[in-house]
Parts: sequence; structure tokens; C-alpha cells
Amino acid sequence: MSSVSATTKTTSVPKGRDMFASKLGVIVATLGSAVGLGNIWKFPYLTGVNGGAAFVILYILCTLVVGLPVMITEHSLGRTARADAIQTFKKLAPNSAWWLVSGAGVISAFLISSFYTEVMGWVFAYIAKAIKGSILSSSPEVTSSAFSSLISDPVQSLVYQWIVLAWIALIIGLGVSKGIERVVKALMPVLFGILLVVCIRSLTLPGAVEGLRFLFKPDFSKVTGATVLTAMGLSFFKLSVGMGTMITYGSYFHKDQDIPATAVRVMLSDVLVSLLCGIAIFPAVFAFGFEPGAGPELLFITIPTVFSVMPFGRVLMPFFFVLAFIAATGAMLSLYEVPVAYLVGSHGWSRKKATWVTLAALVVVGTLPALSGSLTAHIKVMGMNFFDLFDWLTSSILMPVGGLFLCVFAGWRWGSANIKAALTNDGALRNEKVVQAFTGLVKFVTPMLVLVILLAGLKII
Ligand code: PHE
Repeated sequence: MSSVSATTKTTSVPKGRDMFASKLGVIVATLGSAVGLGNIWKFPYLTGVNGGAAFVILYILCTLVVGLPVMITEHSLGRTARADAIQTFKKLAPNSAWWLVSGAGVISAFLISSFYTEVMGWVFAYIAKAIKGSILSSSPEVTSSAFSSLISDPVQSLVYQWIVLAWIALIIGLGVSKGIERVVKALMPVLFGILLVVCIRSLTLPGAVEGLRFLFKPDFSKVTGATVLTAMGLSFFKLSVGMGTMITYGSYFHKDQDIPATAVRVMLSDVLVSLLCGIAIFPAVFAFGFEPGAGPELLFITIPTVFSVMPFGRVLMPFFFVLAFIAATGAMLSLYEVPVAYLVGSHGWSRKKATWVTLAALVVVGTLPALSGSLTAHIKVMGMNFFDLFDWLTSSILMPVGGLFLCVFAGWRWGSANIKAALTNDGALRNEKVVQAFTGLVKFVTPMLVLVILLAGLKII
């Protein structure tokens, strides 16, 4: 079947479907899904583990040539079909197996949620610890042992995760996610502000230059295929792409929203927040003598030391973790929505039932990553505990494979004419160069790169 025979005109919005109120609203809502623990927690820790600047550069390159095109693809498909991820494929490619791409996305969203809620649980625990003042110390021993005692305690690990799950289910169950999204949006600039303050304090620490050198002076000698795959995985995780979340967001876009321009703005802001988080953390890592490759605990052990030497640090630290928690809530809501939308859309369940069943399933499956620092620590699959395994499986396998199929679908099945129609708003925008560049990327460059990086990262080639 020729994919370019007729273009699929953007479907008008079905009754009852929401639309974002303004163009800025679209950007901020999309950012609400993108910005989260990926910037504050994952970016710094992966940068530390993978040797610094070279990894940062690879991550930015992957964001430009892989993450961004996949985001534009998802927004285009979603706005054209005006449906959730699975229904989008069913509408655009009826009677085919393409919907399985989003089906895999449901599994990704579920697995990510199971460890994301655990990290949110740590952030929640740190709000309490920061209020008590027990972690306000410039001694690496104190902050490190505070974190280890948290994750090695199975009861705390589970309870904090359950608190987070209850919080998310409550927001969704009460149908107030729109309201919370508004809160997330309103507080995003505040998070940005406090990050800047932390950066300034961190940069004025003795030995801060060492941290900056680590973050910005690349040494490519240690880069392996696995490093590149991790950087690409981070670019998927960061922009919430490769699993259909952004298809759903695109489905709410106005027909005159400039899709590529929106995606570029979201991507730039997101990268900026990640870099700020790096600048907040790495000078402190070197000033206080932490190990940059400390792993997932990096944020939790270094940030308290910066606040401990900052004016009003005692007051600002709880505030920092509250803001991190709110940013993570925005991302988590977009993750939780994926299985719920699937159960409602494809199985005809009520929203309430879908919310509860997802919650119950997350309580059960979430136990595995939650107990990775304690009871299940000795269980290793391919050398990884469950926490690392779920993280690796989603960021390094499922999302890249999802992104690959999304590109192949958009470039080869949906076709150039439909891409052009979506990117130009049916001819209203004069952006031929953008359309040309994107078509080339999505048809050839991006899928080839994803494939090669995947195979090289997994040592298949
Ligand atoms: N982008 C989010 C973050 O960086 C995580 C996320 C991944 C959210 C995938 C939705 C989908 O924290």
C-alpha cells in the first residue's frame, strides 16, 4: 500500500477531549512530563558513572539527532490522530500490528513507574530529613550513611514508595491531575530559581573548577559502545519519548501549533535544566571529596553538603526537595496515564477501575526495585539488581526499540506527504527546510543510528 497516496488531515477534536489553553501552555505541559528526576537525579549520576564531559556531549548529540526527531514524530502522529498512543496506530494503520509499538510502551511506562516511584520515595524521605535537619552536614560520611541507612531498610523503602503511589493515585483518582499540572507549571520557574541559587553556591566552593572540568572537558578515550547506548537511553528517558507518552500530548495540540518549534523549545529547556543540575552537583562532589561515580545516590549525598554551607541552607533544603518532588510528580502523572489510558481505551474499563488496578500492580511489581538495596539485593539478573535491571531494560532497550519503530512507521509507512502536512500545519507554515531536514532524519539517519548504537551497545556488532 502506498503511504503517500493521500495525506491524513488532522482529525478535528472529538467532543470531550481537552486542548491546551495556549501555545505556551503546550510547551509547559510537555515540559512537565520531560523535566523530573531524569534531570535532577539520573543525569548527574550517569554523568558521574560514565566519566563526565564526554558523556554529556554524547547525551546532547543523541538528544539532537535521536530524542528530538522522535519527539516531533510522536507529536505529529498524536495530533493527526487525536487519540492515545494505541488508538493512534489503530487509526493511522488499521488492521496492522503497528499498535504493538505503543503496546510495548505500556510495559515501559509500567516498569519505569515501578522504580521512579522508589526514587520519588527517597526524595520524599529527604523532605522529612531536611526539615529535621539531620542531613544538614558537610561531612561526606554523615550524608552517605544517611542514604545507605534509608535504602538498606526494607520497611522505609516500601513505605515511602507506597506514600508516593498513594499520592499519585489520589491525584488521578480525584480527577485533579489538571489542577496539579497547573501547580507543576507554576512551580517550574521556582525550581529553576532555586537551582540557580544552588549552582552559584556550588560554583563558589573551593575546588569548584575541578567539578566544571569534569563536566565540560571531555576525554573520549574511555567511551565504549555501552557508554553511547547509555547516553542515547538517557535522551529517550529525558524527553519521555519512545513509548507513546508524547503521542498522547500531541493529541491535545492545537491545529496551528508549530510542532518542530515546540519540540525544539522543550528540548532546549530540558537540556538546560540537566546542565544546571550538573553544575549544582559536580563542584560539590570535588570540593567535599565524593566519588563522582557513586551511582544513584549521588544527588542525595552531595546536595545536603552544598546546603550545609549556604546562607539559609536549613530553610532552603526542604524547599529544594519539595520542588524536586513536585517536578517528579508532573513526570510521574504522565507515566501513570499510559497504562490507565490503555486499560480504558482498549479494554473499555472505567477510569476508576484502571487507576486502582494499575496502583495494585505497581505496589506488587514496585517491591522488586524498592527492595533492591535490602532484601532482594542479592538477586542479580544479568549482573543487575531489579532496580538497575528495570532502568536498563527501559532506557537501553524498550525505548530505543520503540523510537526505532516510531521512525520507521512515520518515515516509511505514514510517509513524507503526511509528515509534511503535520509539520507545516497543512501548508500554513513556510518551513520547507525544517520539513526536509526532519524527513531525512526520520527516514534514514535516526533509525540507522538507533540501530547501530543498540547493536554496538549490546556488543552484537
Ligand atoms: N522524562 C521524565 C524525567 O526525566 C521521565 C519520564 C520518562 C516521564 C518517560 C515520562 C515518560 O524525569
